[in-house]
Amino acid sequence: MFGLQKATQVTSDPDDLTTLRWLAEQYAYPTRPSSAPCLARPHLRVNMVSTVDGAVTFDGRSGELGGPGDKAIFRVLRALADVVLVGARTAVTEGYGQPAPDEVFAADRRTREQTPAPALALVSRSLSIPADFGPVGHSDTVILTCRTADAERRGALVAAGATVIDCGDESVDIDRVLDLCAERGWVRVLGEGGPSLLGTFIDADVVDEVCVTTSPTLVAGDAGRIAHHSAPGRKHPMRPATILTDEDGFVFTRWTRDVGGQA
Ligand SMILES: NC(=O)c1ccc[n+]([C@@H]2O[C@H](COP(=O)([O-])OP(=O)(O)OC[C@H]3O[C@@H](n4cnc5c(N)ncnc54)[C@H](OP(=O)(O)O)[C@@H]3O)[C@@H](O)[C@H]2O)c1
Repeated sequence: MFGLQKATQVTSDPDDLTTLRWLAEQYAYPTRPSSAPCLARPHLRVNMVSTVDGAVTFDGRSGELGGPGDKAIFRVLRALADVVLVGARTAVTEGYGQPAPDEVFAADRRTREQTPAPALALVSRSLSIPADFGPVGHSDTVILTCRTADAERRGALVAAGATVIDCGDESVDIDRVLDLCAERGWVRVLGEGGPSLLGTFIDADVVDEVCVTTSPTLVAGDAGRIAHHSAPGRKHPMRPATILTDEDGFVFTRWTRDVGGQA
């Protein structure tokens, strides 16, 4: 049977405090035990933006697809997370800086015993990350790679102050990444893409939640979709948990793993 689930409309003002707080309630991570010896498996939420026709970039970047409402969601999701986990290519292409403390949510983070800002974890097999890339030497950034990564590039990053951690031999093992997050107390993980890293997550069946902003545009072109992977696809059932819209016509959906669904 069909059911009509109406989208809740929110203001797209990214600095409206009432909206930011309301969004933080809607997007709160599930409560899980996080202390040793029963380390919880981290909850992996992924946040992506796409056009109506499925493009994840315009002119090679996703920034052009967002709007003020999308910025508000992005801000709130970071304010809730322990760590931002992102493909190195995305971080470099999009010009990432170190996630900064957000005054609006400072008290909430203290209550949850979180650091003032989420840590940043960059995933890279090749370690082709410029040594002078902003977050590289920051004490709250880790670079997750594999043992066979280029030794010279590793040396350059370490010399620049990077914390480089092996999470596998030939490739980065996503289960090992999540174990490492748990060891560090990062149980609220926010994946920010890009599509190949999300494809790796989906292939490893570790995605608990996907937040998708649908930008009210059609672009055609040859941009990819929010996830891709070399291995054949397999269905992972998801259920809609939140449907929001704003006055600019953006639609914000949140999908959670359907534990009772059929694969
Ligand atoms: N619309 C959106 O929401 C959105 C979000 C994020 C990004 N983007 C866009 O997507 C593009 C970048 O996406 P992308 O798919 O090319 O790259 P990506 O997912 O950001 O990063 C891919 C890189 O992550 C590393 N990686 C992924 N899986 C790995 C594994 N299992 N083991 C080791 N390393 C692994 C590799 O790093 P190395 O290459 O270093 O080995 C790989 O090349 C950019 O244009 C960006 O603007 C869009």
